[in-house]
Amino acid sequence: MREQLENLVSELKRLKSEGTESVFIEDETLQNLRESVQKMKNSKEESAPPSVEKRKTKSRPGPAVNLVAKTKEFQIAPIPPPPVVTLPAGDRQQRWEWLRDRVLNDPVCNEHLKPGKKVVFGVGSVDADLFFCGEAPGADEEIMGEPFVGRAGQLLTKILGGMGLKREEVYIGNIMNWRPELPTASGNRPPTMEEFNYCLPFLRAQLEIVEPKVIIALGATAVNGLLGPDPKRRMGDVRGRWHEFQNIPLMITYHPSYILRSGTLRAKRTIWEDMLMVMEKAGLPVSEKQRGYFLTK
Ligand code: URA
Repeated sequence: MREQLENLVSELKRLKSEGTESVFIEDETLQNLRESVQKMKNSKEESAPPSVEKRKTKSRPGPAVNLVAKTKEFQIAPIPPPPVVTLPAGDRQQRWEWLRDRVLNDPVCNEHLKPGKKVVFGVGSVDADLFFCGEAPGADEEIMGEPFVGRAGQLLTKILGGMGLKREEVYIGNIMNWRPELPTASGNRPPTMEEFNYCLPFLRAQLEIVEPKVIIALGATAVNGLLGPDPKRRMGDVRGRWHEFQNIPLMITYHPSYILRSGTLRAKRTIWEDMLMVMEKAGLPVSEKQRGYFLTK
């Protein structure tokens, strides 16, 4: 149990270092955690006489990441099993339009929206070589009904500009088609496995239509959605390397919000190096000037 708790704490620390400010946790899970911690404390107290040191102990800082417990008033509506999506015959544009219509009218996606907010489907060229995959719509995206239109999105547009590309020339989608709801008006939470799994067939179908040369997963949540969660996976280890999804080369990199948070040249260069690999893989021209972007002088 101690090892599992340590793994949990290190995963929370990792998420925090990547900018996650809160994670969603079910009441029941939180209760189990409390009981496990209590059991560990009890067994320690039984095996060791109380020390002066112990009595002096001050309260420790809280967990690395706030745990947002599900309250009685806030319940995520149950998520049914993933839908089966069978694309109709037709050209790319026709199949994409069919799928877009299917997703925008999906009852489950719509059930999870706050009043007046929109389901978000992918945008861009159906003939794109590059398919950027983010995590889930945020506040701006659910208003506009378009992925990556907020601050992180503007940065993504700049990154594309550095690659010599416009937004309309690539495809931009998300793992999730709705903004994962919270009891609060602001804030985001990572999707649950059920939510990921529900939306995954929609993402797979978009990939089937676009048939890109490369998928770029932006951030740990996108990676978890595509490859499945793995508590041992570290972004620092998997980014900048080639993986595969649906037989398509998959590049993992940090989410653009990582640059917004850290603001360092190093963060920019790290993502940029991943983009240079993507450009090479997709056969895009790379100039010497581009190679040198964000290098320290
Ligand atoms: N972050 C994402 O991952 N996707 C969006 O659409 C917006 C922000």
